[in-house]
Formats: sequence, C-alpha cells, structure tokens
Amino acid sequence: MLRGRRVVLGVSGGIAAYKAIEVCRRLVDAGAFVSPVLTPDSLHFVTTQTFSALASEPARTSLWDSPEPSPHTALGQRADLVVVAPATARVLAAYAMGMSDDLLVATLLATRAPVIVCPAMHTEMWEQPAVQANVALLRERGVTVVDPVAGMLAGGDVGVGRLAEPADIVAACDRVLGGGDLAGLRVLVTAGGTREPIDPVRYIGNRSSGKQGHALADEAAARGAEVTLVTSAGRPAAPGVEVVSVETAAQMEAAVAARSDDADVIVMAAAVADFRPKAVADDKLKKGDGVPEVVLEPTPDILAGLGARKRPGQTLVGFAAETSDVVANAAEKVRRKNLDLIVANDVSAPGVGFEHDTNAVVLLREDGSREDVPLADKRAVARAVLDAVLDLRSQATR
Ligand SMILES: Cc1cc2nc3c(=O)[nH]c(=O)nc-3n(C[C@H](O)[C@H](O)[C@H](O)COP(=O)(O)O)c2cc1C
Repeated sequence: MLRGRRVVLGVSGGIAAYKAIEVCRRLVDAGAFVSPVLTPDSLHFVTTQTFSALASEPARTSLWDSPEPSPHTALGQRADLVVVAPATARVLAAYAMGMSDDLLVATLLATRAPVIVCPAMHTEMWEQPAVQANVALLRERGVTVVDPVAGMLAGGDVGVGRLAEPADIVAACDRVLGGGDLAGLRVLVTAGGTREPIDPVRYIGNRSSGKQGHALADEAAARGAEVTLVTSAGRPAAPGVEVVSVETAAQMEAAVAARSDDADVIVMAAAVADFRPKAVADDKLKKGDGVPEVVLEPTPDILAGLGARKRPGQTLVGFAAETSDVVANAAEKVRRKNLDLIVANDVSAPGVGFEHDTNAVVLLREDGSREDVPLADKRAVARAVLDAVLDLRSQATR
C-alpha cells in the first residue's frame, strides 16, 4: 500500500532521531515517495544530508528556506500520510495545541491526510500528565499513535519511552494506508484473566495481565487485519482494534460466540478460569459469619467449543500456560481441542508468561511440528505467532 504514496516523514529532536533514518530507508524501499521534514532541533542529532541522500527529495527544515512559497501547505495538501518519528514532547504539545511554529507542525496542521505520531522520550517525560493529555487529545482527534515501547533508553536508563521499532512504524504506515500482510482477514483475539465473583466485592482470578493478548491484537491490526479483542484486562489497545470488555468466563464465552463465526483467525490468549463459584452471594460475605464454604463448578471450555464448531478456512490458535511437561501437555491439547496451533509456555520460568513484558514460547502445530521462540518482547512473540498463522493458512490453500 505504500507503493507510489506520498509520505511526509517528520523528524523531531530526540535521541531516537537516528532511527528515523531507518524508517526513511524502509519507506523508500516499500516504494513510497518520501519528503523528510526535520525540525531545527533535530539537527543536533541527525543531518539533512543523510535524509536528502536516502529520501525521494531533499530534506526541508524551515518554512522560510524552501523553493516553494508555502512549503507547509504544499507538503500537507500533497501528502497521503504524515508520520512523525520520533515525536518529541514539544512536537506533540505544539500539534495538540495548534501552535504552528515550525515547518513540521505547520505541515501537520495543513494536512487532511492521516497522521501517525511515534512518541519517544525518557519514561519520566512520557508519564507526565501534560504529555499523556496531549497524546490522548491527538488520539481522540483520530491521530494514530504508535506507542513507545519498554527498553533501553539514552544514558543507560531502562523504561517505557523507547521509539517503536522502525519496522513497526512502517507497518503502521502500511496499515493506515490500507495494506499489510493480514489485510482482508478478520482476527478475533481474547486477552486477560477472567474474574469469577464470589460476592459483590470478591472474586477468584489469576495472574494474567493480558499483555500477550493485547500485543497479538495490536500486531494483527498493524499488519492490516480487522481485529476484535475480547479482553478482561483494562489496557489500551491500538487504534482500529474493536475492544469488547468482559469480566467472567461466561461473558467471554458469550462475546466470543457472537463473533467467532465471522472470524478467519481466532487466537485465544486469555487465561479463562477453569472453575467458578457455583453460587454468588448477593451481599458481601461477612467476616463475623465465619469462614464461608465456596463450592466451585467448571466453567465452559471456550477453546474446545470453538474447536468443535471450527469452520473450513478458519484458523484456531490456543495458548497453554503450563508449569511442567509443557510440550507434552500442549500437544495433547492441540489434538483434543481440534486446534491448528498452540502457543505453549512454561509460566514458572524467569521472564516468561503472566505479568512480564517478555515471553518465551513453543509453537506446536496440529501436524506435530514445533518452533521455539526464545525469550523476547511480547510484541515479537505476537509477530512469530501471526507469522505461523499466515504460514498455516498459505499451506492450507496450496
Ligand atoms: C541529549 C538530548 C536528548 C533528548 N531527547 C529527547 C527525547 O527523546 N524526546 C523528547 O521529547 N525530547 C528530547 N530532548 C529535548 C528536546 O531536544 C527539546 O525539547 C527540543 O526543543 C525539541 O525540539 P523539537 O521538538 O522542535 O525537535 C532531548 C534533549 C537532549 C539534549
């Protein structure tokens, strides 16, 4: 979708400006016509020469030194897409407030093309209410935000604020323009741990944070899929992802059942409770009434139900969080539940599974073949899972 499209690449003055060089290169490689616009302060980090050499036309830095009499309107009106990577706190604020004080922000205000901003800054800056409010305002106005990721920052600090990977930024550009290798596919993802009420204030839950399921939904959307995310984790999802919030296994089952027939790919990453209290007290159980006896009953096996009514052309992916005999248990589930793929992890290993930002998994296919995905960011694991899904689907049509 990038081929032949006009992309304005805005670069502002953060330490991650060097990664914009890679973004520029990838956009050009994908066939886009790239017009770089660098803020004056970005020139402390990168040079116009580099961008002029790699892009489709010379880099611009000012409203006043361009061959066009009105460079911001010319750039803004011609653009199919404007992407700012990295977007500093200052650019986000100026854009949110409509402060047209340099060529980049003037171009952002002078365009009707879709806009993507890719913030990057130290964690303290990123978490500032002022910065978060500006980002929220831009999101509300339809701007696509490619969120910063957790990792190593300038000066050796570690935290959230690192610019998203150039490949992800280019994938977002492709998606916003209607492309991506999952374009045309409807993907249903579940995420989070369910909460099974005991009384109005207490529940039985599990440690799932929903991070892996959300990473899968975000990655599928970035690759052009039409994504529905049924989630019990109160986390944000990428723009374009339809979010259905649920709490209990029964709600998750109903939400999935209502959407599963239309889905081409179903990825059940949620940690659905296996048992729930048989009776839910109407009123809060009182300490003074003694230790309550909570009788449990099994919840519906959503994944097995989906496997039983899987339609031709549908790809069904399950997750298996195990603490022992990981591969053997997962292999048994693939067969018993009629899955195409299972993502198995040993949640007792360091950095793996629940609550972590990282995961290490084994992808087991129904034909018995396996692929090991070593410890990586959950987004990278999501990428590997979706690559395997695409591979399975292309094999099925061969
Ligand atoms: C070494 C260094 C690194 C910086 N990195 C960032 C950054 O990653 N993100 C950010 O928002 N500001 C960063 N700043 C602050 C911006 O450079 C500063 O706000 C500047 O005025 C932004 O200009 P611009 O938005 O016009 O490009 C950094 C400053 C310095 C000195």
